Amino acid sequence: MLEFKNEIPFVEDTSIHDIMKVSTTPFYIYSQEIITQKVKMTKKILGNNIFFSVKSNSNQAILKLMNSLNIGADVVSIGELKRSLSAGFASNKIIFEGVGKSKEDLIYAIQKNIRLINTESLEEIKLIQKLALEKNKFVNIGVRLNPNIDGGTISKISTGKKTDKFGIEISEIENIVNLVSSCNNLNLIGISCHIGSQISNVEAYKNTFAEMKKAADTFVSLGIKIKHVDLGGGFHIQYHKDDPKFEIEDLKGELDTCFGSSVYELSFEPGRYLIAEAGVLVTTIINTKQNGGINYLIVDAGMNTLIRPAMYGAHHEIVSISKKMDNSKTYTVAGPICESSDIFVKNILLPKQTMGDTLVIKNTGAYGKVMSSTYNTRSLPSEVLVNKDNFAMIYSPNKIEKDIEEDIIPSWL
Ligand code: LLP
Repeated sequence: MLEFKNEIPFVEDTSIHDIMKVSTTPFYIYSQEIITQKVKMTKKILGNNIFFSVKSNSNQAILKLMNSLNIGADVVSIGELKRSLSAGFASNKIIFEGVGKSKEDLIYAIQKNIRLINTESLEEIKLIQKLALEKNKFVNIGVRLNPNIDGGTISKISTGKKTDKFGIEISEIENIVNLVSSCNNLNLIGISCHIGSQISNVEAYKNTFAEMKKAADTFVSLGIKIKHVDLGGGFHIQYHKDDPKFEIEDLKGELDTCFGSSVYELSFEPGRYLIAEAGVLVTTIINTKQNGGINYLIVDAGMNTLIRPAMYGAHHEIVSISKKMDNSKTYTVAGPICESSDIFVKNILLPKQTMGDTLVIKNTGAYGKVMSSTYNTRSLPSEVLVNKDNFAMIYSPNKIEKDIEEDIIPSWL
């Protein structure tokens, strides 16, 4: 998404230099065109029942764009539900997931008549029945199943194995049916799963589809009319040139083979796949130094701005936008946070950099800003949306003084 025209860095037809005139770094930029293309292509292959995983990027401008592209929202908290409603999603285009929904979350979701609440335990089903009865409502539910499949992703984002905390074991189907049959306010119409994130293993998806088809048929044979089969998200994108290549076309054949002649309506909950590649993080070099023979570039974005490298060992390509690719030198790019894990990348070749130069960290549209924090009492990053030669700030953080004022000092101090 980053392009150089006469050595000036552009996102679509907007120069990053122009954005830097109105926003201080670090900030995220998203390309409306790339998001639009990804959504359209995903719908073309997987059909219309796409629910954007709001946790990957919950800015309301992004949600409004997703809604305008006619997809739904997959939320995991009352906050994400409120954001999605305020961005314009109709309630019947919102599904509620999550291994831990509070009573408050559930009551709000019930009152808003959302499309489906995907439950994650028998206890939760009982709680939803109780709340629905109290509110005199009928609630559509789905059950998230745990298909016991290893998606082959890193353990921190793997969710489909029996020992993971997610979903209900498939062996519990009969118990689910017995329970739901006694819950007069619940309508069980769907099953769902999500085996993890950043998954490129088509075989794992294939096995998941087979398990889900079998599970849906079992529910039907026990008298439950399953309408929706939600196959989750988790689609892989290429962060590094050596990462496996994955396109959702790769799943199409498996989906057709598995579900081809069935009546189930298939749905999906991608996050990263729709938005990761549409985002970059722009950051300024605030210090340079050499320690133990390593050339450090210290930038103003840190693990508080983009936590993926520190948390998951994730790779994000970094490019220089201030200098041409001559005099290249090996650098380690680090943030300003007082932790040794605050490193974005080690030993990359960049043109010779000096204090004040700008770097761009790529593929940061998903799980970037949403996971940022004010750690070390630093401001959150801004966000900018580009649409051709137009751009707009879509998030501008509180001044740090405002955050400081929010602490409450007890009277005895
Ligand atoms: N559905 C459910 C139930 C999920 O838990 C998730 C992600 C998704 C859909 C969307 O997954 P996606 O298509 O974006 O892979 N912070 C981590 C990723 C955590 C994903 C959590 N669940 C990262 O930065 O890689």
